[in-house]
Amino acid sequence: MTAQSPKRRVITFGTFDLFHIGHLNILKRARALGTELYVGLSSDELNMAKKGRNPIYDYEHRKQILESLRCVDQVFKEESLELKVDYVKQFQADVLTMGADWEGKFDFCKPYCEVIYLPRTPSISTTELIEIIREI
Ligand code: CTP
Repeated sequence: MTAQSPKRRVITFGTFDLFHIGHLNILKRARALGTELYVGLSSDELNMAKKGRNPIYDYEHRKQILESLRCVDQVFKEESLELKVDYVKQFQADVLTMGADWEGKFDFCKPYCEVIYLPRTPSISTTELIEIIREI
């Protein structure tokens, strides 16, 4: 008989609009930190509050894209930036991970879970993609 390896739940957050290779890379690396990956997906309203624009793809479309990925176990709606600790507790996350553009910004979660910042994929972002498309 072999002992079952313990579950290690990972949580991450983002808008994942105009899904691109940087998003795929971070989700795969996030999942590799544990055994289950939970993604807090910004609501359309939260994206407006955070980035000052509506997402190009609405919440339901962004959610369906993330749910179709093998590395993602569950997607839930992130309604407020102030609820990180509540989401960590609700999903019993062992690890919270984000891209290095958020370095230090989630350290307040350290009493509740491990916090890991991963290097971003260089030279791509949703904002840059929107600019490029605008110029074409
Ligand atoms: N991310 C990454 N590498 C990139 C772009 C994003 O690792 N090149 C990560 C971010 O650090 C974050 C997650 O992907 O942890 C979701 O980021 P999000 O803000 O939704 O994507 P961006 O492309 O950064 O969007 P924007 O340009 O609008 O800020």
